[in-house]
Amino acid sequence: MSQECQVPQDPSQTPRHVAIIMDGNGRWAKQRGLPRIEGHRRGVEAVRTATYAARDLGVKMLTLYAFSAENWNRPKDEVGALMGLLELYLKKELETFVRDKVRLQTIGRIEGLPSGVQRLLAATTAETRHFTDYTLVLALNYGARTEVADAARAYAAALAAGTEKPGDATWECFSKYLYTAGMPDPDLVIRTSGETRVSNFLLMQAAYAEFYFTPVLWPDFSKADLAAAIADFSRRERRYGMTSEQLKPAAAK
Ligand code: IPE
Ligand code: IPE
Ligand code: MG
Repeated sequence: MSQECQVPQDPSQTPRHVAIIMDGNGRWAKQRGLPRIEGHRRGVEAVRTATYAARDLGVKMLTLYAFSAENWNRPKDEVGALMGLLELYLKKELETFVRDKVRLQTIGRIEGLPSGVQRLLAATTAETRHFTDYTLVLALNYGARTEVADAARAYAAALAAGTEKPGDATWECFSKYLYTAGMPDPDLVIRTSGETRVSNFLLMQAAYAEFYFTPVLWPDFSKADLAAAIADFSRRERRYGMTSEQLKPAAAK
């Protein structure tokens, strides 16, 4: 591992929550003359690698964008194959997550997923809910705009029921209605495959996230690649609208 890939020693420089837009499975397969589904299959392996790599590197929460609300527009065969892979993955991981104390959570319109997938998700999230050290969040049938629309609807219902008051409508109040209620915002958002867009991922929650784009295709994304992203993150200064001098008054003198 090169110097660049070293894990930062100062734990405060390690992102607590890393979110990844896992992209490039199709291109990975195409480069090898394989069907796209083979790229997705290898992508699942990369999910396993990233899950444990993030924990080893000191990350507390890892969110993986696995299926977007827009991905239903792909060819029927590909969508079916992806759902099949998801089901297989969840069947295999249930035991592993319990053994390794990985808490599984989800964000997205879970009710729109096939019933078999929903059942496995319900079982896995229930059986791992008491783990507190490390959380894997799967974004499934997720779209940020859908999330805001769903939250607005729930918030409006709460207003009508009188459990929320219009005058209290702050971000803190409203954000309780997002899928991510109770989760910390992502500190670092990574996108693989060289694309430099957000594709409707965590638009609200990533308001002050650091972004990291890498040309590595998702099936090839390794622990060293994650370490490199974290090392890059650790060299950045997050200013939240303030000045560098305000953040480091002594060093600025
Ligand atoms: C990411 O890989 C996986 C999903 C979006 C489900 P892609 O399938 O988007 O791969 P490319 O972008 O076609 O290479
Ligand atoms: C984003 O990748 C969604 C996921 C990684 C699940 P896409 O491949 O679907 O994004 P676009 O279509 O290139 O923006
Ligand atoms: Mg893609």
